[in-house]
Amino acid sequence: MIPERYFELTAEDARDSYFTDTSKLDAKQLVHDRFRTNPLALHDHLIRALDLRGTEELLDLGCGNGEILARIRPYLAAGNLVAFDIAPAVLEAARQRLDGVATPCEFIEGSADDLSDFAGNSFDRVMAIYMAHYVTDLQACFAEVRRVLRPGGRFLVATDRPDSMVEMYDVHFAALRDMDAREDLFRATPKARISLENGAEQLAPHFAKVERVDWQDQLQFGKAEHFLAFYRSCNYCCASSNPGPGEALPPVFFTELEDRVHERVQAVIDETGYFALTKYTGHFICS
Ligand SMILES: C[S@@+](CC[C@H](N)C(=O)[O-])C[C@H]1O[C@@H](n2cnc3c(N)ncnc32)[C@H](O)[C@@H]1O
Repeated sequence: MIPERYFELTAEDARDSYFTDTSKLDAKQLVHDRFRTNPLALHDHLIRALDLRGTEELLDLGCGNGEILARIRPYLAAGNLVAFDIAPAVLEAARQRLDGVATPCEFIEGSADDLSDFAGNSFDRVMAIYMAHYVTDLQACFAEVRRVLRPGGRFLVATDRPDSMVEMYDVHFAALRDMDAREDLFRATPKARISLENGAEQLAPHFAKVERVDWQDQLQFGKAEHFLAFYRSCNYCCASSNPGPGEALPPVFFTELEDRVHERVQAVIDETGYFALTKYTGHFICS
């Protein structure tokens, strides 16, 4: 089972280690799309939730490599986009991805808990897609979003249920137990900070209406290597991100961890034909 305690990752960790380049984010996005079994892609589902007319001004907090923004852009050909992220490398990737489109796009570096670059009532839509768990001061962030969002606008926050992809945590923690790994590694990812379970109560002080929409998918891997690439891009369920006060773990630790996880995943594939990750995800629509 997934432990209650979770890793603390800050916006600075995101900027200075995890998102210094786009390789892990690119790899994760590819896997989520390539191995999904829900015929409706997540980004199409999110685009529907934005309920766009085509002329809105949209702010994307934690835009990452611009993958989702680029897919939204045709729906806002006559609108206006602002891509906002704390990590210069991913922001540059977003800039390149949207290079040359006629829709006006701005790219701004900053932290989502300080939107002082923007005047009040500047946007019709604000979105925070799988990024809120990094924001140090979530209450400041939501108050800022309320300030910059026009009356009648929407704020879309995508996040997971804490038990999303539990199959990955099961093999991960089983392998850690086999290795007799140190106790502080038995922690959930920082996504538990704001999840589908506890998000509404954190958003409610700032928005009159907060609606939760659940979304389910299952990734199915026919080859263990593809799952392992995903597991690696998740920093081994954060074990290699920021394990805390103890000493950094040596590369040989992760080689052994991968070998043990590989063995368990391969056994499932041999028995059932594929290894599944069940995604319990969703979003809040705030207005
Ligand atoms: C998991 S990625 C999600 C990217 C994109 N929204 C998506 O769903 O593809 C999280 C992004 O949030 C950014 N981020 C983390 N903390 C942030 C903060 N405090 N303010 C703005 N962006 C932040 C990271 O740099 C990263 O690009």
